[in-house]
Amino acid sequence: MIGPNITHAVIPVAGFGTRMLPLSKSVPKELLPLGNRPAIHYVVEEAIAAGIKHIVLVGHAQKSAIENYFDINAELDSQLRAKGKEVLADSLNWLPEDVTVSMIRQGKALGLGHAVLAARPIIGEHDFAVLLPDVVLDPFTGDMSADNLAFMMDAFGADNHSQILVDNVADEDVHKYGIAKLSDASNIDEQSDINTSFKVAGFVEKPNLADAPSKLAVVGRYVFSNKIFDYLANTKASVGGEIQLTDAIDALISEYGVNVTTMRGNSYDAGDMRSYVQAFIYFAEQQLAEDK
Ligand code: G1P
Repeated sequence: MIGPNITHAVIPVAGFGTRMLPLSKSVPKELLPLGNRPAIHYVVEEAIAAGIKHIVLVGHAQKSAIENYFDINAELDSQLRAKGKEVLADSLNWLPEDVTVSMIRQGKALGLGHAVLAARPIIGEHDFAVLLPDVVLDPFTGDMSADNLAFMMDAFGADNHSQILVDNVADEDVHKYGIAKLSDASNIDEQSDINTSFKVAGFVEKPNLADAPSKLAVVGRYVFSNKIFDYLANTKASVGGEIQLTDAIDALISEYGVNVTTMRGNSYDAGDMRSYVQAFIYFAEQQLAEDK
């Protein structure tokens, strides 16, 4: 096993984005704009700010435009510089030199758990983070978005327990998420604006409100021990006929223990039309105010 420092992150980008049609018919949903940048730009920035150096996108043939977004377009670069647009050209080359972004294909669309497992040949023996790109954390309020992931990476380094970021959701949204089952609910301080980490008994994927064990939803940021790959390799399809990451986490809990980390700041669901529109307006307003 390679040290406690997390340097690798998996970002699954294979989803078809059916909730975002027709916008997502020919443009990957991850490239739809939030303000003046594509949604995935913020997610990659968040990972880098938390200390990630190697990002693995898991996608398929229709998603290659995402990989291109993180590449240098040499022709565009030289055209811009020939026209004296140095500042614009520099702004496109924002990815730090010590950060790599690679893409691997999922092959079959068998679910989120299967997508994470597809990254194993690149992640190798490393422990790693997973960031779901539908969820974008508010990057404008303090530095909170990346702080969540950085906290989880430190907590993992301290006790080797995998960490799952959770946040309270409204009753009507419970059925959209993985929901945490707590052994001791007294740990939760809903007013707190600091991250706290505590043991979790398990997760239920997309329960009805009546069956939900809590209202603490999986936000889409994870720090995993490399052992999760062994559990994913043995996970069978369940809810929605898909190989669920949540089922592999439950198996990991029973042998090694897993913690939830409570989230600071706000998150936006950029994979759902209604929340996407709200997020777009929020991001655009923040950027227009910054430009003033
Ligand atoms: C996935 C996870 C779920 C999590 C959600 C966060 O579901 O399976 O546990 O709460 O992401 O967005 P999906 O939205 O991909 O169906």
